[in-house]
Amino acid sequence: MAAPGPGPAPPRLALALALLAALAAVKYYRDAEAARQQELALKSLGNEGLFLFSSLDTNKDLYLSPEEFKPIAEKLTGVAPDSESEEEEAPDPDGETLSIVAKFQPLVMETMTKSKDGFLGISHVALSGLRNWTAPAAPMSVLLARQFKAFLPPKNNLDLGDPWWIIPSELNIFTGYLSNNRFYPPPPKGKEVIIHKLLSMFHPRPFVKTRFAPQGAVACIQASSSFYYTIAFRIHAEFQLNEPPNFPFWFSPGQFTGYIVLSKDSSHVRDFRLFVPNNRSLNVDMEWLYGASESSNMEVDIGYLPQMELESTGPSIPTVIHDENGNIIDSRDPSGEPIQFVFEDITWQQEIPWEEAAHRLEVAMYPFKKISYLPFTEAFERAQAEKKLVHSILLWGALDDQSCSGRTLRETVLESSPILTLLNESFISSWSLVKELEELQSNKENEFYSKLAELHLEKYNFPVEMILCLPNGTVVHHINANYFLDITSMKPEDVESSIFSFSTNFEDPSTATYLQFLKEGLHRAKPYLQP
Ligand SMILES: *[C@@H]1O[C@H](CO)[C@@H](O)[C@H](O)[C@H]1NC(C)=O
Ligand SMILES: *[C@@H]1O[C@H](CO)[C@@H](O)[C@H](O)[C@H]1NC(C)=O
Ligand SMILES: *[C@@H]1O[C@H](CO)[C@@H](O)[C@H](O)[C@H]1NC(C)=O
Ligand SMILES: *[C@@H]1O[C@H](CO)[C@@H](O)[C@H](O)[C@H]1NC(C)=O
Repeated sequence: MAAPGPGPAPPRLALALALLAALAAVKYYRDAEAARQQELALKSLGNEGLFLFSSLDTNKDLYLSPEEFKPIAEKLTGVAPDSESEEEEAPDPDGETLSIVAKFQPLVMETMTKSKDGFLGISHVALSGLRNWTAPAAPMSVLLARQFKAFLPPKNNLDLGDPWWIIPSELNIFTGYLSNNRFYPPPPKGKEVIIHKLLSMFHPRPFVKTRFAPQGAVACIQASSSFYYTIAFRIHAEFQLNEPPNFPFWFSPGQFTGYIVLSKDSSHVRDFRLFVPNNRSLNVDMEWLYGASESSNMEVDIGYLPQMELESTGPSIPTVIHDENGNIIDSRDPSGEPIQFVFEDITWQQEIPWEEAAHRLEVAMYPFKKISYLPFTEAFERAQAEKKLVHSILLWGALDDQSCSGRTLRETVLESSPILTLLNESFISSWSLVKELEELQSNKENEFYSKLAELHLEKYNFPVEMILCLPNGTVVHHINANYFLDITSMKPEDVESSIFSFSTNFEDPSTATYLQFLKEGLHRAKPYLQP
């Protein structure tokens, strides 16, 4: 059989090539035009002026619409027009209202890494929004029970624990992440309104959609009775603490979680609680800019927030009370005491443990959690029992919250199914914070644990190290996340050129490299793990 020689391209391929060439020409023209406009804008505003302008120009068309100008108008005039969402929620005389209190203890500044050198080299204004945030914006708020219908399941036939999205994520591998250069949250829409309102009790500038994945809010039914649900939820949101002329400062708690007990018609809320978990030593990621460029002038740090919590003061109650004859009566009795309401007990017909509901929400946010990540010492005990390797991730900030260091890793390789399968079969997985292992190492009560921590820390390099080791702690292989991302990163130009090359091999290079890493570890460990 003759080898296929170079001939004219088949008609379909020729057409595709012509189309691609035309698209490339249009794209080139648009890019050149955008660059010219950008240059003119820079000329009239200067670097920092353009930076501020861009932070308001959310659709990046180089024009400010009235909507985009609104936050600045409000700041200068001090007048906030009633928002549309408020108008939609016409007061309902028959509805119930719920009182919610906010509890807040500010970030413990000493827990920030940069406090070690006395915040040396950090301009005072960069941290002003953080230092100034010492109390909740609204310690108490009265909301309509009906507004909480956003927490109801989308349909009736969901099983307990089946997650659904209250606010779906709009980020994916192609959209990347949202701009750091923003000060004012976009107006919330639909179900975002209630969540925005609740988070506004802590700080006036909550962003209900985080800049980085996984963003959004997810919920599941934890318990159900004839008339009520207990809904567990998990929200990824963040706050912008600075305002112009300062540069942006992002404050991102690991997560907001909580539950609501509400009637299936959402007319009555029995109980509500929302909080940032505070049982890990660090629970907030902070990122701030110190210059008018969002890519190069960025500082990061992590810290501990002791309390950020919302709680209902009691069940929701009617705003207006009717007596037996339908007459409106005062909600205080003649002696001025508020009328006491009696609520029937709820008998749950079906429920799952809170831990299980929380785990289902966690897996919805982080598919890599389909396999379990055990606490450090437990992982080694399990590995000894099962004669398996320990797959351990050592990070500066937490892997399963919004902290930056683990972000890229967990969004790509750790969620891919070949990796999940291999980890599930042949490894015991764990992740730890550097800070936690340093504490374990210096605690001499258990020498074995202290040694395990020491062997780990010896191999650690900032910000994330992936480590494979024998059950006794000897490291057989390790790779630094930055190095890993460098060797596997696909630049946008490469992605485009690979379309032109009509490549059919779309295997993700990072998955392939990570598989290779795990297999090399297994290979090196083979002599030791033979029964
Ligand atoms: C500090 O907080 C107060 C009230 O909470 C506010 O009026 C003031 O503008 C804030 N200052 C800064 C620098 O953010
Ligand atoms: C933190 O508390 C939650 C439940 O409130 C629990 O599931 C989790 O294991 C705790 N984490 C740590 C590190 O103690
Ligand atoms: C892990 O392995 C167990 C047992 O073989 C299996 O039941 C489970 O579905 C696996 N999980 C994943 C995420 O592959
Ligand atoms: C762990 O076990 C391997 C093989 O049995 C041995 O070579 C290594 O020295 C041990 N490491 C420690 C820290 O005991």
